[in-house]
Amino acid sequence: MLCLYLNPKQPPHRFLLRESQRPSVMTIEKTFFCLSFSLLSAALLQAVQPDYITYENKRMGTLDTPYLLRTYVPSLELDEEVLAHHSRGFSSPRYSPSNGRLSTSGSYGTIPVIPAAISVSYGPRLAFVWDTTECRLLYAWANGFLDMESHWGSPQSGRRNGNYSARLFGQVFYKAKGKPPLQINGKTHSGQVSYHGNKRIQGHPEFSYSIDGRTITVTIKPGPAAQTVEVQYVSSNESDVLHYHDPKTSFEVIESKSGSVKVLLSPNAAETYHGFKKPNIKIEQASAKVGKTLYTTYGCIACHTLDGSKNHGPTFQGLSNSKREFPSLGVVTADENYLRESITSPNAKTVPTYTPGMMPAYPLDGKQVDSLVLFIQSFK
Ligand code: HEC
Repeated sequence: MLCLYLNPKQPPHRFLLRESQRPSVMTIEKTFFCLSFSLLSAALLQAVQPDYITYENKRMGTLDTPYLLRTYVPSLELDEEVLAHHSRGFSSPRYSPSNGRLSTSGSYGTIPVIPAAISVSYGPRLAFVWDTTECRLLYAWANGFLDMESHWGSPQSGRRNGNYSARLFGQVFYKAKGKPPLQINGKTHSGQVSYHGNKRIQGHPEFSYSIDGRTITVTIKPGPAAQTVEVQYVSSNESDVLHYHDPKTSFEVIESKSGSVKVLLSPNAAETYHGFKKPNIKIEQASAKVGKTLYTTYGCIACHTLDGSKNHGPTFQGLSNSKREFPSLGVVTADENYLRESITSPNAKTVPTYTPGMMPAYPLDGKQVDSLVLFIQSFK
């Protein structure tokens, strides 16, 4: 880049090399000058800059001081019904950055992102995305937030990565499904809503939008147990009867009075994301040790404890070879085949007192399943 500025044939506004302007055509003196100049400026930069040149790319908030970011986020293949008012975009022709002309062949496809989202981090307990177009909670995750390398550049090189969408890291445990869950006076509103904005009340974000002449204010916070979310809706019209209706997610109504409703959402998804870092879980040989890594990376940890305590799913302690009683099958021993089946076809049998369909099916290969089984068997 610096060399181009020094090349008199090259207009200064052109930043990219054309074939005929590659450095190979430069004279030796010029190349030498450019090289020493670049080294000198790199050394100067080192002297004035500490060991980073951008912000922390994976910053997170805390329970007391949540951190808000307004940025592009992945759409995570949410239902069409959830993103009802989002355009799907269209392909655009490629262009050549060197001459600024559109290309006649090839096109850029669309990128599956939510453009007008507000993402909030409450630290490892909860991160969520609020969509200002649909005015609803889109998804929630734990143990992470956004990896901003695509916008802010890598701390080492300053280089940006991929397209402009941030990537998630952590375990997604809730995803919006179907029509908007709020019913006002018995009616589901799937029409266009109008977003007002968000403000912070004692540091906590509050989102408001208008619908049919009233303002609805929504607050979203971590629930009392891990992997739960508390959502409260308040209407400016105090006589409104608000109901929460979501047949695809298990939830509990914790407060309902004239003009407001508060619910606690349980997990309905389990997807693990690693930001811009590629996970490296190549397995040479199945072992309980590998199983332990998978237990965290695949988010089993979100629902199964190892110490006997109850969570969304049964504990792994003492599970192996214990007895289960199913209404239609009678007593079944949790042997190796049972464990294998529970992991690969979670809906085959539902342990009594637990929610059917809550455990997601994972795309696991043979050695991964073997490792998880060995890991569970190690908790006698
Ligand atoms: C979103 C919560 C959730 C996640 C994540 C989850 N499970 Fe489950 N799991 C459940 C629930 C609920 C049950 C009990 C109901 C049933 O049998 O489907 C269960 C049942 C099981 C059982 C049978 C337990 C018994 O007592 O009979 C095994 C084994 C199991 N899960 C393994 C795993 C593994 C391994 C992972 C990660 C790869 C995982 N689960 C991830 C919720 C989850």
